[in-house]
Amino acid sequence: MRSNFLIKPASRLKAAISLPGDKSIAQRAVILSAISSRKITIKNFPDNNDCHDAVRVFKKLGVSIKKGKGSVIIKGAGLHGLKRPKTDIFTGESGTVFRLLTGLFCGQRFNVRLRAGDSLQKRPMLRVTAPLRLMGAKIRGRQNTRHGIREEYPPVAIEGARLKPVIYKIPVASAQVKSAILLAALYAKGRTVLIEPVKTRDHTERMLKLFKAGIKIMGNRISVEGKKPLIAPKELFVPGDISSASFFIALAAMIPHSRLVIKDVGLNPSRMGMVRVLKRMGADIIIRYRVSGIGYREPVGEIVVKSSALEGTVVRRKEIPSLIDELPVLMVAASFARGKSVFENVSELRVKETDRIASMVTNLKKMGVKISSFKKNGLENIIIEGRGRLIGCRLQSFGDHRTAMSMVIAGLVASGNSIIDEVSCINKSFPDFLGVINDISGNP
Ligand code: S3P
Repeated sequence: MRSNFLIKPASRLKAAISLPGDKSIAQRAVILSAISSRKITIKNFPDNNDCHDAVRVFKKLGVSIKKGKGSVIIKGAGLHGLKRPKTDIFTGESGTVFRLLTGLFCGQRFNVRLRAGDSLQKRPMLRVTAPLRLMGAKIRGRQNTRHGIREEYPPVAIEGARLKPVIYKIPVASAQVKSAILLAALYAKGRTVLIEPVKTRDHTERMLKLFKAGIKIMGNRISVEGKKPLIAPKELFVPGDISSASFFIALAAMIPHSRLVIKDVGLNPSRMGMVRVLKRMGADIIIRYRVSGIGYREPVGEIVVKSSALEGTVVRRKEIPSLIDELPVLMVAASFARGKSVFENVSELRVKETDRIASMVTNLKKMGVKISSFKKNGLENIIIEGRGRLIGCRLQSFGDHRTAMSMVIAGLVASGNSIIDEVSCINKSFPDFLGVINDISGNP
């Protein structure tokens, strides 16, 4: 992939596209399939760095994984069938793989050391290790104190232990934390109960249900019975990634006279916050369900977007988990809209692949946007005064895939050309992003 990417303003879009499979769903599919007791074909498996990392790790743990055309075939090793790895397990830059595996490894019958890539090494892990220790997990993380607050970072060393179930109120709205505990709970004798502060993406719960785990869900309360074998279905289709779709949804909403159809995309309500907010801003978006999602299946369907005038809005705190990864591109849409937008409690953006408050504020300011972050009651918020235009300029990705893709979208709707410094980071989630942009917008 090229670095230093030139972005020319795009004119109207008229296209129908399908997108690679959802990264979150695909990673969970690999993990649960590996510890299930059957052979499964995972279809529409995405070809990105984070998902490659998930596959590579389980091969190292002795699981048979073969690549087909756009699919992977996994022979489940069973709940206790993973082999002790001969070396450290390196998860690359995938936070989901690192945090979920921390949970999975606590209840194994072997010891393991989990290492992370350069950027992931700086991301907090105490949110995962603390509840796992309550279950009896033996974990040693790299300790560090920043601004007087104790934190834990990769690498982590995990000794396989006998786990006990817990009743745990998760303090931070995080699907990765919830999923790590749910995976550990599969190895604890008895019923673990989790209570979420706000509902986060529920792919792990849906998939556990599909794999016949003893899981019950009542609103924000999830309970899972441990020591029960998982039974994989023969096949699983990974719907198109709604987070990848969000860039194109925003683009089509902003460029006059556009009409874009996105086919076979995931429509899980816990991921649809961005669509709900854009509609509130005046976007013309129609959703057509093909699979309804009844019985905990992942809802899938089509999104049709037509351009329209956008107005500012307030994104409330409780909406944030349903659009956490879409905040950067929503900030672009709010900048392009007319009027004031406020994003409440976006503190979690500070601990993503880069500090996404800093990366987006820096870039959008350069494009002439009135944007600032402010703290209220210890929580971070963003305020944007949209003026209906962006000015092309030199942009930075800060090595973060979602900042990079959001700024490419900003460049496409700006007046004048833009250049973005480093785009290879996009490979983390969506290597063909620039190819799709090229196809639908005529950008070189
Ligand atoms: C993810 C959960 C979110 C999201 C990340 C993927 C997942 O992180 O930002 O890109 O697959 O569970 P948090 O759990 O830290 O909010």
